[in-house]
Amino acid sequence: MSTAQQKANAAAAALDYVSDGMTVGLGSGSTAEVFVSKLGEQVRDGLNIVGIPTSEQTAKLAEEAGITLKEIDHVDRVHVTVDGADEVDGRFQLVKGGGGCLLREKIIAHASDLMVVIVDETKLKAQLGDFPLPVEVDPFAFTITAKKIYDALRASGIPHADVNLRRRGDGLEPFLTDGGHYILDCSCEAIPDAAGLADRLLHIPGVIDHGLFIGLARVVIVGEDRGARVMEL
Ligand code: A5P
Repeated sequence: MSTAQQKANAAAAALDYVSDGMTVGLGSGSTAEVFVSKLGEQVRDGLNIVGIPTSEQTAKLAEEAGITLKEIDHVDRVHVTVDGADEVDGRFQLVKGGGGCLLREKIIAHASDLMVVIVDETKLKAQLGDFPLPVEVDPFAFTITAKKIYDALRASGIPHADVNLRRRGDGLEPFLTDGGHYILDCSCEAIPDAAGLADRLLHIPGVIDHGLFIGLARVVIVGEDRGARVMEL
């Protein structure tokens, strides 16, 4: 099994959701980057679309691929957003934010008529929580915010939570999101009530947003070794 091939097959299948004249949200992460590259090929072949990037990294790649970009504040409508995910369950609930772009990804997905998620088979889970849940927080008083997050995780039926500040590659400085916030990665083992936890986290002052995407994805495309499986809610 090649996850690279599966990502490529999922990205290729997502092109069916894009047509001439659309404004397209461009996700972040390695799978979304494959989609951006394939979309760029179509643009060079004459497809007329406008891209809305969900991160600085994606903006750079999309520009290099020849895709015309606009800021979300300068468009009336986003027809479709295509993005990856760290985990997907059977109800199309997602964990996202492994790359630290969850806030802009969520704003743009929420503003879109349709969110299409592209993943390889390893991302499909019976229950969310195996992947540490990223929570984006204001740097001010983040240790207090971390304690409140821990309490919220316990109150949501997660007995052995572990909340860790994400650091940059050098391990010294905190990782900073495109918006200048910190990420707290929450190891949960399992998240029994994702919707309940999503609400609890948003009630904590200092939490900007979290990587649980509930009720946003309507299409999940799972790349397989040969081709892709398209699932629609
Ligand atoms: C970026 O912050 C994330 O939400 C990504 O969409 C997610 O981590 C999936 O990334 P990969 O496609 O690289 O696994």
